Amino acid sequence: MEDYVIEMLHITKEFPGIIANDDITLQLKRGEIHALLGENGAGKSTLMSVLFGHYTPEKGVIKKDGKEVKISNPNDATALGIGMVHQHFMLVDIFSVLDNIILGSEPNKFGFLTKAAARKKVLDLSNKYNLKVDPDALIEDITVGMQQRVEILKMLYRENEILIFDEPTAVLTPQEIDELMKIMKELAAEGKSILFITHKLNEIMAVADRCSILRKGKYIGTVDVKNTTKEELSSMMVGRNVKFAVDKAPAQPKEEILKVENVCVKSKLHNNDSVHNVSFNVRAGEIVCIAGIDGNGQTEFVGALTGLDDIESGKISLCGEDITKKSIRYKSTHGMSHIPEDRHKHGLVLDYTLEENMILQRYFEPQFSKNGILKKGEMRKYSDKLAAAFDVRSGQGATTIVRAMSGGNQQKAIAAREMDRDHKLLIAVQPTRGLDVGAIENIHEAIVKERDAGNAILLVSLELDEVMNLSDRILVMYEGEIVGEVDPKTTTLQELGLYMSGAKRDTRKEA
Ligand SMILES: Nc1ncnc2c1ncn2[C@@H]1O[C@H](COP(=O)(O)OP(=O)(O)OP(=O)(O)O)[C@@H](O)[C@H]1O
Ligand SMILES: [Mg+2]
Repeated sequence: MEDYVIEMLHITKEFPGIIANDDITLQLKRGEIHALLGENGAGKSTLMSVLFGHYTPEKGVIKKDGKEVKISNPNDATALGIGMVHQHFMLVDIFSVLDNIILGSEPNKFGFLTKAAARKKVLDLSNKYNLKVDPDALIEDITVGMQQRVEILKMLYRENEILIFDEPTAVLTPQEIDELMKIMKELAAEGKSILFITHKLNEIMAVADRCSILRKGKYIGTVDVKNTTKEELSSMMVGRNVKFAVDKAPAQPKEEILKVENVCVKSKLHNNDSVHNVSFNVRAGEIVCIAGIDGNGQTEFVGALTGLDDIESGKISLCGEDITKKSIRYKSTHGMSHIPEDRHKHGLVLDYTLEENMILQRYFEPQFSKNGILKKGEMRKYSDKLAAAFDVRSGQGATTIVRAMSGGNQQKAIAAREMDRDHKLLIAVQPTRGLDVGAIENIHEAIVKERDAGNAILLVSLELDEVMNLSDRILVMYEGEIVGEVDPKTTTLQELGLYMSGAKRDTRKEA
C-alpha cells in the first residue's frame, strides 16, 4: 500500500457563481515533491487553501497519515505540521524578519531569553538551507526574493512536515529559482512532503516526482514526471496543444515613439544613481526589451518613465512631445499604457469590481459617464467585451470583486485594460507573470498584433524565454546602465548572460 501523508478525497468548494473545486482527489506521498498544474483559475490556490484551513469545503474528506482530520483554520493546519507559502505573501510589512518568522509561535515562556534562542534557531536554519535573510530588516525594505525566504523559514521554524508552495517562483529571478529548487530537493530528501504550484513546465520537469492536473475546477489526472513530457502536461492542462515559440514576422519599425535621453534616477538607498545616463528609443512597430537581472535599476527606470518615481535628470519624449515632467494622468491620457510590475500596488484596486477596474483611468470619459454619473450599462458591456477577448475568468463576471479573482486572472485583467485603451506606447513589465502557458501564448500574440498595428512596445522582463522570443531588439541593463544592445535573432543565451552579469559591455555605449 502507498504511504500517503495527506489525502484530499472528493473535495468540493464553491464560491458565488463558481465551483472552484469540483470533486477533487489529491494524494501526497511522504517525501515526494508533488506539482499541481492548471490554468489560471483552475482551482489550485483554492485547493491548497482548503488544506491549510482557510476555506472549509462543502464536501470531501482530508486524511493525514490515513486518519481523517478536521482542518477548520490555519492553526489546525499548523498543529498537523502543514505550512504554506502563499501566492501573495502574508507578512507584516512593519515587523522585522525575525518577528514575522516567530509570529504566532512566540517563545513567551521565558521571555527575553527565548527570543535569543528563537533568533539562534532562525539563523541556524538560515545557514543550513542557505536561505539568506537579515533577521533585523523590516519586511517593507527587503526584496520579494528575501520575503519568500522569510516565508520558507517560517515553515521550517515551525517544523512543518508538509510544505505547500503556491507559485513560489513567479516572483523570483532565475538565480533564485535555481536556489529554491535545490532547497526543495533537500527538504524532500529529508522526508518532508511538498506540494508545489507552478506554471513553468521546466520547473516541474526539474524537481517534481509526480504532477496532478486540474482544469476548470475538475481533477484531470496524476502523472509520473519521469514518464511525461512538457507537451503532454500542457495539453492535459489546457485541453489543446500549446506553441512554445512566438509566431512573428520581422519588425517593420517606423517613426520614433519613445525617446529617452540621459535619464538618471537617484537611489533611495545609497548615494549612487540607481539609473545612470540611460538613452535609447522605441519606434512604432517594434518591441524593444530591457533585459537584466532583477534589481539592476529596471524598476526605478520604469518608475521615472511612468511618473511613479522622480526623475533626477534627463529627458523623456513621447511622440515628439517632452513629457519628462508630466503627471501620471497626463501620460496615461496621452498615449502611454503600462502593465506594472506590482499588480497589487499599482495595477488594481483590489476591493473594486472587475468592471470598475477596467475603466480605472477613464471613468470620466464620455463613453463611461455623463454629468458625473457613471453609465453602468456601458461599463458592464465594456468589461464583458474585454474579459471575453482576454479570457479573464471569474465567479461573477464584471461584478466580481477583484480580490476574489485568481492571481493569473488579475494579471490578465490588467493586460486587457492597458492594451485596449488608446495608446501609442505600451510599457509591459513582466506582462506574463503568473500566467499559464495558454494565457502566455495569448498575451504574446496580442503584443505582436499591436506591434504590427503600429504601436511601440517597451518590454521589461526577467524571463529569458520571453526576452528571446518576443523582442525585436534587446537592451541589457546592468547596475543602472544600458551596457549593451543585442539582436535576439543572432545572440545566444550565453552572450546575454555575460552582459547581464556585467562581464561584457559594449564600448560604444560608454560615454
Ligand atoms: N475568496 C474567493 N471568493 C470568490 N471566488 C473565489 C475566491 N477565491 C477564488 N475564487 C474563484 O475560484 C476560482 C479558482 O481560483 P484559484 O485562485 O483557486 O485559481 P488558481 O488555479 O490558483 O489560479 P492562478 O493560476 O491564476 O493563481 C476562480 O474562478 C476564482 O475567481
Ligand atoms: Mg493561484
